[in-house]
Amino acid sequence: SNPKWEQVEAAKAAAQLGGGPQRIAKQHEKGKLTARERLQVLFDPGSFREAGALVQHRCNDFGMEKQQIYGDGVVTGSGTVYGRPVFAFSQDFTVFGGSLSESHAAKICRLMDRAVAAGAPVVGLNDSGGARIQEGVMSLAGYAEVFQRNVDASGVIPQLSLVMGPCAGGAVYSPALTDFTFMVRHSSYMFLTGPDVVRSVTREEVTQEELGGAGTHTTKSGVAHGAFDNELDALAGMRELLSYLPLSNRDPLPRIPCSDPPDRLCPFLDYVVPANELQAYDMLGVIQQVVDDGQVFEISKDYAKNIITGFARLNGRTVGVVANQPAVLAGCLDIDASVKGARFVRFCDSFNIPLITFVDVPGFLPGTAQEYGGIIRHGAKLLYAYAEATVPKLTVITRKAYGGAYDVMSSKHLRADVNLCWPTGQIAVMGSKGAVEILFRGDPDQKAREAEYEAAFNNPFQAAKVGYIDDVILPRMTRKRLCAEMETLGTKEVWRPDRKHGNMPL
Ligand code: COA
Repeated sequence: SNPKWEQVEAAKAAAQLGGGPQRIAKQHEKGKLTARERLQVLFDPGSFREAGALVQHRCNDFGMEKQQIYGDGVVTGSGTVYGRPVFAFSQDFTVFGGSLSESHAAKICRLMDRAVAAGAPVVGLNDSGGARIQEGVMSLAGYAEVFQRNVDASGVIPQLSLVMGPCAGGAVYSPALTDFTFMVRHSSYMFLTGPDVVRSVTREEVTQEELGGAGTHTTKSGVAHGAFDNELDALAGMRELLSYLPLSNRDPLPRIPCSDPPDRLCPFLDYVVPANELQAYDMLGVIQQVVDDGQVFEISKDYAKNIITGFARLNGRTVGVVANQPAVLAGCLDIDASVKGARFVRFCDSFNIPLITFVDVPGFLPGTAQEYGGIIRHGAKLLYAYAEATVPKLTVITRKAYGGAYDVMSSKHLRADVNLCWPTGQIAVMGSKGAVEILFRGDPDQKAREAEYEAAFNNPFQAAKVGYIDDVILPRMTRKRLCAEMETLGTKEVWRPDRKHGNMPL
């Protein structure tokens, strides 16, 4: 045997154990996997290769020089997910609470630099007590180095975060800068200041879970885009999300073999829009009929449910779907829905993912709460995002497309490529009742005036006549038509004048 070799083997074996068996047991007691176990689940079996397992911190304060643990609280490396390259870092809570030191940050930064150069996504598994307190500004500098890279990599490679433990203070901003953040229910939390600080400053009594748990961030704040019951489901969800995404903005759209015929008719859709226009229906069901195998990977499923955003496939190719949901708030656009939609549209555009938009929108949500909250500014985000997007844009109006919301929802005027409408489409400035109250105030026969208005506008003819609708199709034809249009749009190019960047309303 070779002693040098044995020395290396011993160091590498120690690195595998992180903070040691006791802290690993503690991690397991909390229902949490270790940093390395998580990576085994995230990556295809046996594919993960670690980099930097022997890194140590360089701190000599507070007796830290006597406490050295290989890896310094984060496992970094690359491997494959469904056979495609992915980079990941996984914070190891058993090593100094997964806290971020200068060396820990440098490992993440090296990984991100490699991922950008290689053109492959980065997944961050966050489980950390925050900045390594003993290292002071060195750890704060480390965070900022990561943030800068998050921004530089934005729109270049997909960046995904999975919060699997504490994520507090400055630590929250790296996930916040990434494209999508998932959380695990009851074992992860994100907040700037914890319940104790909140109590002393605002006198509010709030638990960790209420303040920053997965439920809070996927329903109230919108900070996280998906919540999972346990770590295994969350990691499986991350794998599934990756399967929809291109590796980078220069990678072609992923295409998987598709056994769902692209020319499949959807007869059920002919009956989905209720005869009574005040009645709701479930738009998610419509989308499921249209896309491959009924599979939709929803983003922010439990937040601003009046708009649906998610990934799906048409004939094996990824598309981003945005849809008004008439079953919630009648499908009105409000602040949260506008922001949710805008961020999703911008993600898709930056990674060349075509957008399919299903429209049934009675307008923007009225009220002081919305106006004081800045619906004008926030609604403008969705408008901006659609107008800015140069990916193939296909629009299907299923029923209402009223007012400014008609314009916003991927209208022809925002350079959508193909605008389709079902025979149930109604494209107008507003609904008949409101319109007649304004146009024919005092007219004794309001009902007759409404009927006249409906005859004029409660159909797609006016829009079709001027070419703002390319075709009126039977609902059953929707999948067949969209799949066919996608074939043609693959080569779409749009020229825009140079600029540093636009000034999106924020
Ligand atoms: N810097 C250095 N070490 C840290 C740390 C940090 N920011 N956060 C945690 N640790 C260490 C602890 O000292 C402990 O070390 P030990 O195993 O040698 O005893 C280990 O990580 C585990 O922490 P512990 O407090 O026992 O775990 P917990 O599950 O009870 O609590 C936290 C987790 C995150 C709530 C708690 O550790 C905490 O409040 N940390 C500080 C958070 C913070 O304010 N960070 C700075 C903000 S940017």
